[in-house]
Amino acid sequence: MARNPVHDMMSQPNHDERARQLFVLNLKFHVGRKIRPGNKAIYEKLAKPKFVKQHGREPTDRHEIGEVMWQEPNYLMFSAINRDAQELMWDSVAEPIYRQKDRLEKTYDSLHASAKRKGSLALNPAFDPPRGIKEVNIHLQPVNYAADYGANDVLAGAFYEGGGNLYSMGGGIGTMESKAEVIQRFIKERFPGFTPTKILDCACSAGSSSTPWALAFPNAEVHGIDVGAGMLRYAHARAEALGAAVHFHQMDAGATTFPDASFDLVVSHNAMHEMPVKTQAAMFKESYRLLKPGGIAIHQDVPLRYSERDAFGQFDASWDLKNNNEPYWEAYATNDPVKMYLDAGFPKDTIWHGKFEQLDKTVAWFVSCARKP
Ligand SMILES: C[S@@+](CC[C@H](N)C(=O)[O-])C[C@H]1O[C@@H](n2cnc3c(N)ncnc32)[C@H](O)[C@@H]1O
Repeated sequence: MARNPVHDMMSQPNHDERARQLFVLNLKFHVGRKIRPGNKAIYEKLAKPKFVKQHGREPTDRHEIGEVMWQEPNYLMFSAINRDAQELMWDSVAEPIYRQKDRLEKTYDSLHASAKRKGSLALNPAFDPPRGIKEVNIHLQPVNYAADYGANDVLAGAFYEGGGNLYSMGGGIGTMESKAEVIQRFIKERFPGFTPTKILDCACSAGSSSTPWALAFPNAEVHGIDVGAGMLRYAHARAEALGAAVHFHQMDAGATTFPDASFDLVVSHNAMHEMPVKTQAAMFKESYRLLKPGGIAIHQDVPLRYSERDAFGQFDASWDLKNNNEPYWEAYATNDPVKMYLDAGFPKDTIWHGKFEQLDKTVAWFVSCARKP
């Protein structure tokens, strides 16, 4: 299974909708790849000299760089176009979803009720999603992660998958492998012979990473958890449409209700950057509690480590925090995975973190892992 597979729960765009999506795709690619790199020259040639003139020294961190960059008309122009491109992306994603809303709900109903259903869905009406998720439209997604509009509502998932597909392509991320498949290759290299029989995918969203785990390990029991009901209904129906046996639950990744030592593998994909530090640390602690002896925790995310960037690189990366509703961007970029694994109880000599590249070399993901003795 590659990234972005086609299935019955997808909101297929018609000709004109696709044309608008392709425009946005190209716009995002152009802004990200052609315009954004020029911001460094704006800094070096225009903004930095002004800071030096005023302070008698160069800026030392991303905040000081921000003081002068946010005065530069060319940077403001980039920022406005980048924001517009994101908003246009959601407009172009929304059109086919709302046009096909009834079909998506009916498809959910029929897949959920099917006698051939392979997985399951356990929603908890008493569950209250974290405020930072339910009150924020993360990355400007109009129907937010925690949205729930009723018994067969799947909008949050439809938006997440539709937007995610365009966003990743606009960011130049190849579709040869899903993130889960990258981590499966990572496991083969780092833990040869490790064959999990029970897998937990934390903060699974629309289940785009959960399904490749179920398909790659057909003998394993695969569970996915997230906080949003609309997201999980979609994930469930999507997995059924793809013939993948996944059990979805509405739970907090930092406080699950699974018993101790019940999983061989606990993973998360692109989840830490949507969580405050406290929740990230709680998820690492849960990983340790939930793993059987010899079990492995792997938490993968976007390559955003501030420790690997100079001050300008940090300033550049911080754009999403302020302009793309990513409140936890820096909580992740500056986190300390080693400390979180140690605090959770994992032995130091089992902890590893670094980069692992997609086969098509379009992105090298941040990967961290540790093993329970
Ligand atoms: C970027 S998405 C994850 C993408 C997904 N894992 C994938 O590979 O496609 C982040 C997800 O984290 C979920 N999330 C945030 N805080 C959470 C928490 N405390 N417990 C469980 N899920 C959480 C959000 O609802 C959202 O669906």
